Amino acid sequence: MASYQSIVPTILSLLCLVSTAFSHSLIQLVSSNRKIRVDDDLYCDSWRLSVETNNAGYWSTVPSRCESFVKDYLTGERYLSDSEVVAEDTLAFAKTVIIAKDGRDGWVFDIDETLLSNLPFYKLQSFGTKTYNETSWDDWVKLGEAPALPASLKLYKEIVQLGFKTFLITGRDEHQRNVTEKNLLSAGYTNWERLILRGPSDQGTTAVAYKSVKRAELEYQGYRIQGSSGDQWSDLLGFAVAKRSFKLPNPMYYIA
Ligand SMILES: *[C@@H]1O[C@H](CO)[C@@H](O)[C@H](O)[C@H]1NC(C)=O
Ligand SMILES: *[C@@H]1O[C@H](CO)[C@@H](O)[C@H](O)[C@H]1NC(C)=O
Ligand SMILES: [Mg+2]
Repeated sequence: MASYQSIVPTILSLLCLVSTAFSHSLIQLVSSNRKIRVDDDLYCDSWRLSVETNNAGYWSTVPSRCESFVKDYLTGERYLSDSEVVAEDTLAFAKTVIIAKDGRDGWVFDIDETLLSNLPFYKLQSFGTKTYNETSWDDWVKLGEAPALPASLKLYKEIVQLGFKTFLITGRDEHQRNVTEKNLLSAGYTNWERLILRGPSDQGTTAVAYKSVKRAELEYQGYRIQGSSGDQWSDLLGFAVAKRSFKLPNPMYYIA
């Protein structure tokens, strides 16, 4: 018969073994999760550089492994800071332009993710990891509640103050004109020279073609497009391009 004295140490050492194994596996689990997260952050930072520089070209959705990275980027300080630096670079150039007295020096702004932020909407769309849903997007636009991107609002006012005529060229549809005007005003934007939306004759073209045609029309009317600000390469490339173009960050979606 096993003595009481010999069973107790056996039980104790068994317990000890079990708990050691458990805590080891716990540590392994935590460290492997941490490693995955670190690897994802590293990869997603490189992915972000690739999409911002347009090296990636067309991409449809944010890779699912980058959802938390994109979320942290947009909801943390980094997005605001990046936008501020873009605005500073933009203003530095704008100040070098000699504004003529003819009122023909123009600046083109895109609207979504340039003047207005749709972050409240994209929070509900998993920060761009879900496919674009036009119905939900239209519902969101109808609310007219997109806030201003703070750095852009400040920049916009400075551009107007310098004497540029501002042209807002957006991929939004002509039928969204009233709500877009209302939203811009409530976000603090005023004094634009013209708000240009996609009309019936602009359907079925890419954003880059549509926006180029609108800039070419402005040039034809005698405007000198000194600068252009947009979050998409399609806001800035094509023809009748501005003297200088400024790309705002947008790791949520790509419009060709
Ligand atoms: C798009 O969103 C609407 C609601 O806004 C929903 O009814 C519809 O099922 C969604 N479509 C897809 C393809 O997810
Ligand atoms: C937009 O507003 C104007 C007046 O501000 C009005 O005449 C027009 O009917 C409105 N359009 C739509 C589509 O609501
Ligand atoms: Mg945009």
